[in-house]
Amino acid sequence: MSRLLGRVAFVTGAASGIGRAAALRLAQDGASVFITDIDKEGGRETANMVTAAGGRAEFRAQDVVDEPRWAELVARVMALFGRLDILVNNAGIGSSALVTEMTLEAWNHQIAINMTGVFLGTKHALPAMRTPRPDGPMAGKTGGSIINISSVAGLAGSPGMSGYCATKGGVRLFTKAVAMECAAARDGVRCNSVHPGIIDTPIWQKLDESGALATGLNVGGTPGANALDADIIAQAAPLGYPGQPMDIADGIAFLASDESRYMTGSELVIDGGWTAH
Ligand SMILES: NC(=O)c1ccc[n+]([C@@H]2O[C@H](COP(=O)([O-])OP(=O)(O)OC[C@H]3O[C@@H](n4cnc5c(N)ncnc54)[C@H](O)[C@@H]3O)[C@@H](O)[C@H]2O)c1
Repeated sequence: MSRLLGRVAFVTGAASGIGRAAALRLAQDGASVFITDIDKEGGRETANMVTAAGGRAEFRAQDVVDEPRWAELVARVMALFGRLDILVNNAGIGSSALVTEMTLEAWNHQIAINMTGVFLGTKHALPAMRTPRPDGPMAGKTGGSIINISSVAGLAGSPGMSGYCATKGGVRLFTKAVAMECAAARDGVRCNSVHPGIIDTPIWQKLDESGALATGLNVGGTPGANALDADIIAQAAPLGYPGQPMDIADGIAFLASDESRYMTGSELVIDGGWTAH
C-alpha cells in the first residue's frame, strides 16, 4: 500500500510493542518514520526493522517529559524532511495500586509520561503541521493527524488502576479539546484517540506488580511476582484472547490516512469487545 507515500510520521515509544508495530505499519504504507524512545537499543532495533523492510526510519532518544527535547526533535524532523504529517503519541507506562496505597511519586510519574508527554508532543508538533507543505499534492496547504494512544482504561474504570485510568481518561478529553481547537483554526489537523484493550506487549510484565488489577478482576496472577500477563487478563475479555500490536497499528494507520478524513475528536476502540458489555 502507498496511501502515506511522501508523508512523515513521528512515533514515540517506538522501541517496543504498539509503537514498534505502528512504525512498521506506517512505513509499510509509505511514510518516512521518525521514531523515538527512552530505550535506545530497542529504538535502533525498530529503525533497523523498518529499513530492512524497505522503509525510511530515523531514530532519536527521547524522554517524552522533556520539553526542550521535543522542540529539538521537531526541528530535526523539519530539517530532515521539511514537513510533519503524523504524530503518534504512544509512549506510556502503567502501574497498579489501590488508591489508598498509591504513592504520590507513582501517581506523578504516570501523569508525567502518559499525559504531560502527550500534551508536549501535541504542543510542539502542531506548529510544524501548520507549516504549508513545500510540494506534492498538499503544496501550500497545512494539515496533519495527531493520534493519541489512550486505552480502554480511558473509557471505564478498572480496579487497582485509578492512576493509569486518570491519565488515559485525561488523554481522551485532551484529544477532543485539541480537535476542537484545530477545527476552529481550519488548519486541516485532525486529532483522535485510540483505545486498545488487552494487547500482548511487554507493558504487562510490569503493569500489575501490586496484583491489585488481577485481584479486582478475579483472574488470578500472583501479587509481587509480575505473574499477570496479557494472556491471563485477556481471559476476562469477550474474545478470550489478547490482541496483537499490529491490531492497533492497523487502526493507527487508518487514522493517519485520508480514509479517516472526516474523523476528528473520535475514539477508535480496538478491544476485542472489552467495553461492549
Ligand atoms: N498493551 C496494552 O494492553 C495496552 C492497552 C491499552 C493502552 N496501551 C497503551 O499503548 C501504549 C504503548 O504501550 P505498549 O503496550 O506497546 O507497551 P510497551 O511497554 O511495549 O511500550 C511502551 C514504550 O514506551 C517507552 N517509554 C516509556 N517511558 C517513556 C518516556 N518517558 N519517554 C519515551 N518513551 C518512553 C518504553 O521504553 C517502551 O518502548 C502506551 O501508551 C500504553 O498505555 C497498551
